[in-house]
Amino acid sequence: MSRDKIGVLTGGGDCPGLNPAIRAVVRMADRHQIDVVGFKKGWAGPIQGHTMPLSLDHIDEILLEGGTILGSSRTNPYKGDPSHIQSIKDNIKKFNLRALVAIGGEDTMGVAHKLSQEGLLIVGIPKTIDNDLDATDMTLGFPSAVQVACESMDRLRSTARSHDRIIIVEIMGRHAGWLTAYSGIAGGADVILVPEFSQNLDFICESLESVKNRGKNYALIAIAEGTKIIGDDGKEILSQSKAPVDAFGHVALGGIGDLLQTMLKERTGRDVRSVVLGHTQRGGSPTAMDRVLSTALGVEAVKCIVEKDYGKMAALKEGRISRVSLQEGVGRLKTLSQEFYDFSQLFRG
Ligand code: F6P
Repeated sequence: MSRDKIGVLTGGGDCPGLNPAIRAVVRMADRHQIDVVGFKKGWAGPIQGHTMPLSLDHIDEILLEGGTILGSSRTNPYKGDPSHIQSIKDNIKKFNLRALVAIGGEDTMGVAHKLSQEGLLIVGIPKTIDNDLDATDMTLGFPSAVQVACESMDRLRSTARSHDRIIIVEIMGRHAGWLTAYSGIAGGADVILVPEFSQNLDFICESLESVKNRGKNYALIAIAEGTKIIGDDGKEILSQSKAPVDAFGHVALGGIGDLLQTMLKERTGRDVRSVVLGHTQRGGSPTAMDRVLSTALGVEAVKCIVEKDYGKMAALKEGRISRVSLQEGVGRLKTLSQEFYDFSQLFRG
């Protein structure tokens, strides 16, 4: 009897957990006599027909590996050449695929949703270290990134303490401060600054003053890359607003920590350093929690396909693995709630 075939791709910024999800898709599909073809480099794969085989022999060791063996890109098939959508449809036919599993963040899920509205049989798996996809408690990649940022803060704490310094730690997160809030709490940051709640320099300086008054001669500031600081003139100061944008219209961020360093040095006269964690947060082996989450989401995605329940995204909802519509997944960007922000500020200063 001939076996069914499905495709899988990883799109957007990579993160730990993608490989365990790919592995779970392949293992679970095999249980249902389904073969899996990997599309390379995000949506560029199905546009160009670039694939790699994903048999059981290929995926044994990838549970431990960071990144994605499929490669990734921020290709947006709805931007540029209009024939790209037809190419995707043609290639899905050419490779005789019953359905496609798209593993990605808001952009990848957005494309998956549009394609699914055009009749393609697609199931999504939510990933991003930013944890900003709605309809899932957590995205894969987030737990590992929190761990990396927290461990980095632990290291920065000891050197800050030795030199009586203020160290600013710039953490990824363009619109959402989840990663900064979680790692700031876990790493015991004295000030946590996130994109959702802009603060001015007085707020930051008062917090540092209160740290000092407690007899602590050093401080750690966790700041998300997309944070805006309100200047003395009341205007928001944002890093790199003139940087180039990607295919989904996102500006490349980075540098708010350096700006804050200069402002704080001037204002306080203290020794201030700034560290950008950057892509370190996206690299390395997934944590145990991330491996379990990624595996569970991969399993659920294949279950959707087996049950012909397309147009869905596997999700963690209220602690249970379930499924939501792709529409729900992309409906709203999940930003930090007031409640969680308040919690993150409890030990400020
Ligand atoms: O994956 C999301 C993200 O980590 C954002 O927080 C960050 O701004 C962006 O990716 C950077 O991605 P890249 O440099 O790979 O384009």
